[in-house]
Amino acid sequence: MEKIVVLTGAGISAENGLGTFRDEEGLWAQHRIEDVATPEGFAANPQLVHDFYNARRAQAVEASPNAAHQALARLEAEFSGEVLIVTQNVDNLHEAAGSKAVVHMHGALSGALCAACDHRWPAPLVMAPNDPCPACNQPATRPDIVWFGEMPYGMEAIWDQLRAADLFVAIGTSGNVYPAAAFVQDAARYGADTVELNLEPSATISDFADARFGKASDVVSAWVEEVLAQ
Ligand code: OAD
Repeated sequence: MEKIVVLTGAGISAENGLGTFRDEEGLWAQHRIEDVATPEGFAANPQLVHDFYNARRAQAVEASPNAAHQALARLEAEFSGEVLIVTQNVDNLHEAAGSKAVVHMHGALSGALCAACDHRWPAPLVMAPNDPCPACNQPATRPDIVWFGEMPYGMEAIWDQLRAADLFVAIGTSGNVYPAAAFVQDAARYGADTVELNLEPSATISDFADARFGKASDVVSAWVEEVLAQ
């Protein structure tokens, strides 16, 4: 086995108190997706959208990686082949744990993006709609987050990696949001073995060859031990 591609979702950071999206008390039970996670919502009320991401950024900077993030960093450091993490999460806990090969397909809270000229820069802790872009000076600052209706980042490279993968692992994701929910099929079609590690079966569980259920800090750590022992 030479290449492992890992997809992570909100469940891997749930034990850090960052909140998942679709659980009973999840973020989408408290906020309407249309209001805070679409370009239309941002156009209608940019302050509301900045408030939402400012609050999430404040929480994220306080969080530390848990045993699952640490186990994945260890996998990358000790596995004889290649490990790539594709995360849907906008926190930086994989990097904080020491993972190097991480693609943030849905963007990151740590980034700011100019909607006028596409310039990117590190986000301040608190962003506001009238913050000027450091490159073009337009007051068109937005979080560097991929919203519904926008193309996730790095897709061509991700699909190349999925085609080359020997093993695809999905961790803590409910399998409701595409294109990430189809990665298991993409990888399996090109011959990868597949495993889901989740608290409970995802919407795409039937596409996986194998699964382990439990808290990420338990199941991911145990799975990494197994892979490294092989
Ligand atoms: P969801 O909230 O949809 O799913 C979280 C998953 O994590 C569920 O399957 C839970 O069972 C599982 N889970 C909860 N606690 C866990 C724990 N301690 N250990 C392991 N698993 C646990 O979150 P995502 O699938 O990440 O996109 O959501 C995908 C995308 O939808 C997000 O990136 C975001 C959201 O709308 C955008 O905002 C564009």
